[in-house]
Amino acid sequence: MCGIFGYVGDRPCREFILTALKALEYRGYDSAGIATISSKGKISFVKKKGKVANLDDLLSSLPAENTVGLGHTRWATHGVVSDRNAHPHVSQKFAIIHNGIIDNYLELKESLSSSGFSFETETDTEVILKLLEKNYSKELGIEKALLKTVSSLMGSFALGVMVLDCPEVLYILREKSPLIIGQGQGENLFASDLVALAPYTKNFFFLEDGQFARIKKDSIEIKNFDGSVCHPKVVNLSDYELSTNSKGSYEHFMLKEIYEQERIVSSHIEMFYDLAFEKQRELGVGLKDIDLSKYRQLVMVGCGSAYYAACVGQYTLEKHFRIPVSVFLSSEFHQRKMHVGSDTLVLAVSQSGETADTLAACEYAKSTGATIIAVCNTPYSSLTRLADFTMYIQAGTEIGVASTKAFTATLLALMTLSYSFAKKLGTLESDELSKLIQNLKALPEKIKDVLSCAPQYKELAGKYSNCGNFLFMGRGHLFPIALEGALKLKEISYCHAEGYAGGELKHGPISLVTEELPIVAICPTGVFYKKMFSNMEEVAARQGCIIAVAPRENKEVKGIAETVLHCPDVDDPFLQALVSNITLQFFAYYVALKLGRHIDQPRNLAKSVTVE
Ligand code: G6P
Repeated sequence: MCGIFGYVGDRPCREFILTALKALEYRGYDSAGIATISSKGKISFVKKKGKVANLDDLLSSLPAENTVGLGHTRWATHGVVSDRNAHPHVSQKFAIIHNGIIDNYLELKESLSSSGFSFETETDTEVILKLLEKNYSKELGIEKALLKTVSSLMGSFALGVMVLDCPEVLYILREKSPLIIGQGQGENLFASDLVALAPYTKNFFFLEDGQFARIKKDSIEIKNFDGSVCHPKVVNLSDYELSTNSKGSYEHFMLKEIYEQERIVSSHIEMFYDLAFEKQRELGVGLKDIDLSKYRQLVMVGCGSAYYAACVGQYTLEKHFRIPVSVFLSSEFHQRKMHVGSDTLVLAVSQSGETADTLAACEYAKSTGATIIAVCNTPYSSLTRLADFTMYIQAGTEIGVASTKAFTATLLALMTLSYSFAKKLGTLESDELSKLIQNLKALPEKIKDVLSCAPQYKELAGKYSNCGNFLFMGRGHLFPIALEGALKLKEISYCHAEGYAGGELKHGPISLVTEELPIVAICPTGVFYKKMFSNMEEVAARQGCIIAVAPRENKEVKGIAETVLHCPDVDDPFLQALVSNITLQFFAYYVALKLGRHIDQPRNLAKSVTVE
């Protein structure tokens, strides 16, 4: 979490840093701060609790002429959200910013305290600052002091350091948290993420774990923590496109992103399918050549919505691969040290490609010889650089913290991978592709149908905004959709919501059924319709309140449910999951809207969770 940014050049940098922090804000919005240094070595700083915009009015207190500086936007891990705990942390000699977690900070703090150091904040980062003060002397020099400091740290860090004694230099150090250097002309920059750098340059160095850099306006030196010099090649990303970060006429990015799904679906179909000739096009280089015969198991990993998307994907991948397919939460996967090896294909699902647990899962799997395919939205992310192959989901930048279009795009990517691999493996049944193509032809219209219901969803969801608890139910492919629907509602409305498999209703949740607990039953007319309908009967028999996600034409459902959120039938369970989920995205959005929540930046969440 946390976004970090630094600039060294000739341009006055305070506004510049503020703009970069706004681009990085999706990584955390608990507090923000900026420090700049004058050519004579005077450090000035501002920091404030809350959103980056809270710095707007404070900026004028930073010297306008300073051309070297650091910025930070925080997602709090250690220490409450406050001005005091905001970064940069500044001492007489240094200013530092940090993204990551120092696992052994308590031990270090104790030992520093007993050597006479006092602490002003509750952060783990301040320990780094104090260690640096302890280790630094003009004789030893800053580089050795920094290396001595990081050698005591356990955990993850991307650090930016400004030093009073050398005001024309920025130091950055990386261990398990992303850091990218942007090389400009007569100026250089660094950040946690390309989005903050791409407006200024197309040339980048991606720092690896255990590396640090000394950055001046006209030079970049990269070394390993053992002091040896690295000569990484500059990566030119002239094709990297920044999507515009504008909401247009929409009230929230989330709403805009919900509507974008129609276009994303259509372009995915166009890119991967030849509808006229009922063919699937080849996957890109690499993926199309992968030798699938050697794999004995397929493992999928992800966190949050990415995990639920993987759970939906499991159904189709299992059918086509005909080898065991399991899905794990990334954190559980790497902590359990699962049995994987060179006969394992891992599909790592992540919108951002920066989720720490997913990266750790992949690092572990890779160390055992497994092959990694990233299913990812973000080119040049840590995950795509780590993976052997990447299937880009092509959703475009997603700004809303709660995932919508990326979820849908991930489902499409998993479906397409599954069918392409089935063709390679010879497991595709004769009419299967043609059935899929028929369904894909109809899909954009089905999505249009859902989008056109927004006013009804708004009215219906509004009725439930005061219910603090919800239960979501689905079966088969729609079980993970129940989980995702509940997650979406929780994330943005702060209502308590749980997802259950319909078959589990009688094994516990039924005891919660009252008139006050809305049960969202995802009940299109598919293979599980009869069983879902029985579940609804069981709820109705106990005077429970049912919100059905079903076609409005279904009279049976209308007769039993208090509310029907219209969702058209789709003659393919996988695509049904995709379409039903959009209805639930609207439901969550309109409940949260009625409650006046911060929909695009819900409390305590961050778009990209870069610490374990
Ligand atoms: C955070 C976000 C979720 C997202 C999850 C995984 O929790 O708030 O929306 O699903 O991270 O992110 P990833 O980038 O790996 O898909």
